[in-house]
Amino acid sequence: MSKKTIILGIETSCDETAVAIIKENGSNSPRILSNIISSQVNIHKEFGGVVPELAARSHVEKIDLIAKKAIEDSGISLHNISAVAATAGPGLVVCLSIGLNFGKAISSSLEIPFIGVNHLEGHALSPMLHSKLKYPYLLLLISGGHSQYLSVNGLGNYKRLGTTIDDALGEAFDKTAKILGIEFPGGPKLEKFAEKGDPNKFDLPKPIINKGGCNLSFAGLKTAILRISKTIKTQQEKCDLAASFQKTVEEILCTKTNVAFKEFKKLNTQNEYSFVVAGGVAANKGIRKNLIKISNENNFKPIFPEIDLCGDNAAMIAYVGLEKFKMKQFDNLDLPANPRLALDKSAKFLKGAGVVI
Ligand code: KG4
Ligand code: ZN
Repeated sequence: MSKKTIILGIETSCDETAVAIIKENGSNSPRILSNIISSQVNIHKEFGGVVPELAARSHVEKIDLIAKKAIEDSGISLHNISAVAATAGPGLVVCLSIGLNFGKAISSSLEIPFIGVNHLEGHALSPMLHSKLKYPYLLLLISGGHSQYLSVNGLGNYKRLGTTIDDALGEAFDKTAKILGIEFPGGPKLEKFAEKGDPNKFDLPKPIINKGGCNLSFAGLKTAILRISKTIKTQQEKCDLAASFQKTVEEILCTKTNVAFKEFKKLNTQNEYSFVVAGGVAANKGIRKNLIKISNENNFKPIFPEIDLCGDNAAMIAYVGLEKFKMKQFDNLDLPANPRLALDKSAKFLKGAGVVI
C-alpha cells in the first residue's frame, strides 16, 4: 500500500498563529489530524485593530508552541510529514515572514519539500476539507481584506468576475462596529447586536447596486452609518442601526450574487452549478441564510466551509499544500513573502482597501 501524504500547514498572515496537519484520504476529503489556532484578539483589542509589530512579536513567541501542539494532537511523528506548506501572501509582511521562515526551517531540517501558499486560495478551496467539489465553481470570497466573485476553474486557475471598488465587506463590518462602539473584532459581535434591532428602522444606501456588474462597494454605506450614528441617543437605536446595516448588506449581496450567477453561466455550461461562499464573513448567519435561499432559487448548490474553517486557519493552507504536492508544485527556500499576492491576473490593489488579506 502506498504511503499517504501528510502535510503540515502554517498560517501567520495577520493576527492568527495557526498550524494544522492533514492526511490524504483516498478519493475522499483529507482527514484533519490537528488544527490549532491561536488568536491575538486580546493583544489588539485595546487598539481597536491589528497592530503589525505586536502581531509579529506574538507570532514569534507562539509559533513553536503551536506547532508542537499540532504535532502532539495529530498523533504522528515529525518524520511522517511529506511536505510543509506555509502562507506566502497576501498579508502583513512582518507576520507572513515568520510563518514562512518557520516552515522553511522545518522543511530544510527534515529534507522534505516546501510549498508557499496563497492565503486567498486557502479560503477558496477551504470547503474541500469537508466536501468534494467539482471545478469550475462560483466563489464569493468575503473576508477582512477582500470581497470578490471568482470563477474557480482549478488549482491556481481563477477568473475574477467582480471585486470591491473600495472597502472589503469584513472591513465594513469592523468599521461599522467601531463607529457603534462595539469592541474589536467587531464583525461577529455586530451580528449579535443586529439580532436585537429593527432592520427597517434606517434606510441605508446600496452603492453601485444597479451598475458595475457584480462589482461591490461598501464605503458609502459606512459613511452613512457614521452620519446617522451622530444622531443616535439610545442603545435600542444602536441595535436598530446594526440591524439595518446587516439587512442592507444581505440585500446588496443577494442582488450582486444574482448578477454573478448570470455571468458565471455565460462562462461555464454545466449540468450542476455550485456556489461557494468563503472567508471570515461567510460565518455570518444572516448572510448564509439569504445566500442559500437565492442559490436554491437559481439552481446553484450552496456550499459554505464549516464555521470554524471560515476564518483564518492552517488546515486550509495545508489543503492547498496537498493539492500542490500532488502536482509537484514545490518552492525554493528563497521564496519571499508577498504582501500583495493575488489570485487572478486581473487583480489590482486598491488604495485604502485596508489590510490586504
Ligand atoms: O478570513 P478572515 O478571518 O481574515 C481575513 O483573511 O481577512 O476574515 C476576518 C473578517 C473580519 O473583518 C471579521 O470581522 C469578519 O471576517 N467576520 C464577520 C463574522 N465573523 C468574522 N463579519 C460578519 N459576521 C460574522 N459573523
Ligand atoms: Zn483570511
